[in-house]
Amino acid sequence: MKIAIIGTGRMGKALLNTFYKVYPNEILFAGRDITHTQQVINELGLNLQAVSLEVAMQAEVIIPTLWFADVQPWVQERAMALQGKILIDITNPFNETYEDFTTPYDTSSAEIIQQLIPHTYVVGAFKNTYWVVFDNPVLQGLKSDVYVTANKEEVRKKVMRLLEPLPFRILDAGTLKNNRTIERMTLLSRELSLKAGNYPRIAFNLWGLEHSSISG
Ligand SMILES: NC(=O)c1ccc[n+]([C@@H]2O[C@H](COP(=O)([O-])OP(=O)(O)OC[C@H]3O[C@@H](n4cnc5c(N)ncnc54)[C@H](OP(=O)(O)O)[C@@H]3O)[C@@H](O)[C@H]2O)c1
Repeated sequence: MKIAIIGTGRMGKALLNTFYKVYPNEILFAGRDITHTQQVINELGLNLQAVSLEVAMQAEVIIPTLWFADVQPWVQERAMALQGKILIDITNPFNETYEDFTTPYDTSSAEIIQQLIPHTYVVGAFKNTYWVVFDNPVLQGLKSDVYVTANKEEVRKKVMRLLEPLPFRILDAGTLKNNRTIERMTLLSRELSLKAGNYPRIAFNLWGLEHSSISG
């Protein structure tokens, strides 16, 4: 199964590094400028060829690492190519000061993206995982949680199985509606870690849960 990571920013690099360790032959990495994309790959020391956006769109799982305002026109323009595929949405709809969101309380960026591309399976994940946490997602023996959401259970479980070998605790977090909470948890973790002086090395581990509940 091919997995496309789109965008060469902080999350693009962090996800590429993490997925490459587990799925070196499955990864397609693309950005707006293929020369720059190859430079980023080389700087990370990975044995990988950058691909064009067109080639990346052939993957079964696509992870755009764009900001919410940019990802909306991006998915709309590619609605046809995204039909029947899984799109992993990592966005948090921050405002300009990063102190609040642009979305009202009765929705989430994941739900809005799903409405824009109804024939694509949108899966929310990594919303609370700050880019620096990917370098070492274990602290005091606790793995950073990744809350996986999707409206279709079968799709959610499929993505959970894909993410399970990554060094995170992968949790079934229900339907996309739960991103109203999950996305806002990032606002809280940002504020708390800024107060504590360790921003952005902050992550959730919901104490009391045994393990991910992958079945089927
Ligand atoms: N930063 C975090 O710790 C973190 C944690 C969880 C979730 N997120 C979410 O992850 C997303 C990316 O965050 P980031 O910190 O990685 O941002 P970033 O470093 O600014 O990277 C964003 C990337 O988006 C691409 N891009 C920008 N404008 C675009 C456009 N108009 N069309 C197509 N591509 C465009 C660019 O890649 P190219 O130039 O290569 O095309 C750029 O490098 C955001 O939605 C954020 O809410 C971030």
